[in-house]
Amino acid sequence: MKIIQIINGPNLNLLGRREPGVYGSRSFEDYLKELRLRYPDVQLDYFQSNCEGELINCIHACGFEADGIILNAGAYTHTSVALHDAIRAVTAPVIEVHISNVHQREEFRHRSLISAACRGVICGFGLDSYRLAVEALL
Ligand code: DQA
Repeated sequence: MKIIQIINGPNLNLLGRREPGVYGSRSFEDYLKELRLRYPDVQLDYFQSNCEGELINCIHACGFEADGIILNAGAYTHTSVALHDAIRAVTAPVIEVHISNVHQREEFRHRSLISAACRGVICGFGLDSYRLAVEALL
């Protein structure tokens, strides 16, 4: 069975309630149930944290065993050299995802410090960005 680790960063625990006009009105837990039903042969593990170091710890913990990591680093995307280094440190391919099209938004969201370390980037397709990332990894 393939193992894919989904990692969500800061404020993504509030999906469904946070700026629904930007991020939609569905909780991630609800979406994840659907995603797991869609891929019964894939072990989809999920971790969310608002703390940068915990995201790094999770990448270290799964990054040598998982078949892939889907990472929405939230705002740390735009600030974190430490996450960039963690992605480079592990062997699993990491797909950077964003729910919104960050390039249509404020200028400070246009720059990602993690993209160059990732296998690829998917953004702007709402929660479907995660499914597209699963497809890319499979
Ligand atoms: C986000 C985009 C980021 O700029 C923002 O800080 C987030 C969510 C997205 O999924 O669209 O928290 O990563």
